[in-house]
Amino acid sequence: MSNRTFTMIKPDAYSKGHSGLILDQIIRSGFRIVAMKMTKLSLEKAGEFYAIHKERPFYGELVDFMSSGPIIAAILEKPNAVADFRKLIGATDPAKADAGTIRKLYAASVGENAIHGSDSDENAKIESDFFFSGLERV
Ligand code: RTP
Ligand code: MG
Repeated sequence: MSNRTFTMIKPDAYSKGHSGLILDQIIRSGFRIVAMKMTKLSLEKAGEFYAIHKERPFYGELVDFMSSGPIIAAILEKPNAVADFRKLIGATDPAKADAGTIRKLYAASVGENAIHGSDSDENAKIESDFFFSGLERV
C-alpha cells in the first residue's frame, strides 16, 4: 500500500465548470494535493498516457476526447490513496457508479466520465512522473 495516487479532471468536467466542486470533494474526502497543473494534452501525449488501451476498440475515441480540451492533473496523498480514490470516483460507467461518487455526480457516459484515477501503486508512480518533475511536488 502506498499513500499517493494520480488524477486528472477530464475535458468534459473541465468544460462544464465542475473542476472547483470536484477538487473541493477530493479535499473534503481527506486527500492532500501534492502537485497540480492545468494543461492540454496533444493527441500524441494522450495516446502515450493511455497506451495500455492501444488495442481496445475505444482507444481512438478516448485519445480524441482526452486531447479535446484542458485537463487538470494532480498528485494526491492519503493513506491507501489508490483504492480510496477509486472508491471516491466510482465505476467507469457512471450509470453503474454509487450515489455520491464523482462520476455519478458529474459524468455523462462511460466515454466522457469526468475524472481519471490510477488503478495501482505502480501506475500511480508512472502517471505522476509523466506529468510532474520532482520540483513540481510539495
Ligand atoms: P481511467 O483510467 O480513466 O481512470 O478509467 P478506468 O480505470 O475506470 O477505466 P479504464 O478501463 O482504464 O478505461 C479508460 C477510459 O477509457 C474510456 N472507456 N471507454 N467506450 C467504452 O466502452 C470505454 N471503456 C473505457 C473511459 O473514459 C475510461 O475512463
Ligand atoms: Mg484506468
